[in-house]
Amino acid sequence: MKARHLAGVAGVAVLALGLAACGSSSSSPPATQSTAAPTGPVTITWSASPIAQVGIRAYLIKQFEAAYPNITVNLVSAPTNTDTNRSTLTTQISGGATSPDVFMGDVIWPAQFGAKGLALPLSDYLPASFFSGFAPGLVTGASYKGKVYGAPFFADQGFLYYRKDLLSKYNLPVPTTWEQLVTDSKTLQSKNAVKYGYVWQGASYEGLTCDWVEFLADAGGSVLNTAGTKASVDSPAALKALTFMRSLITSGVSPAGVTTFQEPQAMQAFDAGDAAFLRNWDYAYANANNPSDSKVVGKVGVAPMPTFAGQPTPGYSAVGGWNNYINPHSKNIGADLVFIKWLSGTDSQTILSTKYTEIPTLQSVRAAVATSSPNAVLKIVGQTKLIARPSFTPAYPQVSQSMYTNLNSALAGSVPPSSALATAASQINTALAGTGL
Ligand code: GLC
Repeated sequence: MKARHLAGVAGVAVLALGLAACGSSSSSPPATQSTAAPTGPVTITWSASPIAQVGIRAYLIKQFEAAYPNITVNLVSAPTNTDTNRSTLTTQISGGATSPDVFMGDVIWPAQFGAKGLALPLSDYLPASFFSGFAPGLVTGASYKGKVYGAPFFADQGFLYYRKDLLSKYNLPVPTTWEQLVTDSKTLQSKNAVKYGYVWQGASYEGLTCDWVEFLADAGGSVLNTAGTKASVDSPAALKALTFMRSLITSGVSPAGVTTFQEPQAMQAFDAGDAAFLRNWDYAYANANNPSDSKVVGKVGVAPMPTFAGQPTPGYSAVGGWNNYINPHSKNIGADLVFIKWLSGTDSQTILSTKYTEIPTLQSVRAAVATSSPNAVLKIVGQTKLIARPSFTPAYPQVSQSMYTNLNSALAGSVPPSSALATAASQINTALAGTGL
């Protein structure tokens, strides 16, 4: 407790120095907003979506309030769907709302939120030393035009979960290729060991874009050209990827309902024992091993994603994750900064990774859990091959929507894959043209 208190005081001192150093910044908030760490009692609001579907947010708040007794944090529960979450916040903040003070937001938001003034540029308020401890790539990903907008909170990566009991019973290999996953699935389905082979995220939303960039990269394709100025999804590689995704459904390896599945529905099917394989983020491991949610406790293995036959293994995992951002209209910026620093600090990062299977953003905590944790996901984080979504453009929400709406129609069989890709490419180009790129 004493150590925590001292760490807190040191943190505030660094913060004060950082603030003094940038007091003349042109984007300093108006005088009505206090940027000093509070000395009296303050209440702030934190908008955060349910993390890993368990009581993690309340637990983190309790630990923070114990370390900083003069700051009370009221939780505002945000929608689980990242798109709905984003549109609620953009409406509120662009309308000038002072609450929430702090919001947990997706790693794909910095360009849009930075370009539109919907998040405070944290690098104007926090010293460089605050940003130097994060794992490579996270701060760059949280930046737009040279300013950092998000404090890295937890990282997500796509993983393949499998029923190790069934693979071993029927003597089947853990698939490293998509083709093998189909063969394993068909065998297990023919033995009535499971209803479905593979469940994933096929609904018309951001989660489908994540699954899509993985298949697309496995097939050798990309969303945009190298310069990031034009769509490249109308390609033979993209057609291979989308045709394969549709074939998962037509062959019965994936249920037809996968076109309505977000993460929770895919996870529920797997945790109910209905599917042999699941694509999900790191946190799914904790859920699958939680007896109150899952019938497959102790029966789940995790591996890097598969790829197409003939490609180097492993396959690609989409980069996901969440940062904490500050509402530029907040009246409590000093307290907000203390809170987001704590959320990105060692105590919070250790809780997130050891109790909840989230990938820590601090390099030091990541290294510590990789060696000490018995958690199977954290052990293989370093073995994945990552692919980022092209969220460096403020038009990313439209770029992604152009993909997931058209891909979803092709998955449902309403349009052929080739037309879906042609339409997506033309819509992406319109969205990019709107940004003047
Ligand atoms: C996870 C990822 C996030 C992604 C979302 C899609 O929450 O962390 O980056 O956008 O899933 O559903």
